[in-house]
Amino acid sequence: MKITLINFFIILSLISFTHASVVDFCVADYTAPNGPAGYSCKKPSKVTVDDFVYHGLSISGNTSNIINAAVSPAFDAQFPGVNGLGISIARLDLAVDGVIPLHTHPGASEILVVVQGTICAGFVASDNTVYLKTLKKGDIMVFPQGLLHFQVNGGGSTALAFVSFSSANPGLQILDFALFKSDFPTPLIVQTTFIDAAVVKKLKGVLGGSG
Ligand SMILES: *[C@@H]1O[C@H](CO)[C@@H](O)[C@H](O)[C@H]1NC(C)=O
Repeated sequence: MKITLINFFIILSLISFTHASVVDFCVADYTAPNGPAGYSCKKPSKVTVDDFVYHGLSISGNTSNIINAAVSPAFDAQFPGVNGLGISIARLDLAVDGVIPLHTHPGASEILVVVQGTICAGFVASDNTVYLKTLKKGDIMVFPQGLLHFQVNGGGSTALAFVSFSSANPGLQILDFALFKSDFPTPLIVQTTFIDAAVVKKLKGVLGGSG
């Protein structure tokens, strides 16, 4: 009987601990360091509705750049309310000839919705099957986590899309930037990619890489 009672209290305390650890949200506290699990939580008494609202995607990104495109993220680093929720969103502006170069998000799957214009999008699966589609306004496409993918403007006018992610911090690694905007030594790039040194040097010149 005594043991049963003790067990009962242990179970009770476990239940109350479980409940104590449940929080509605964990708005990012940018004054504390960021870790693999995201930002620390802001004190609930300091949280306001503005932590859950983000205005940064209401204006088009600046596409006057080498890719004629802009990615405006609303990840946990920009939008404190998504911290800890496993979701985030970004805006893609693609001018005519705009390209979001081949890239991966190591930490998230992505879903894209075309709001304006035409976008040709695709990804390459682990078995090297290439999945490609030209998407029109209202179309959506999903890009599985970690796979290389791209989006390019598929028409003669500006295109706009929103992409959401299954992480508050999906990460972004652009293949061309990893190779040609870094200090990755050229001989090793040639050796590991089989791309001619002249081409590597040319692309490093364009993108600002060294080595
Ligand atoms: C867009 O970016 C270009 C290149 O950095 C810059 O010259 C231009 O002023 C920017 N335009 C706006 C509207 O910010």
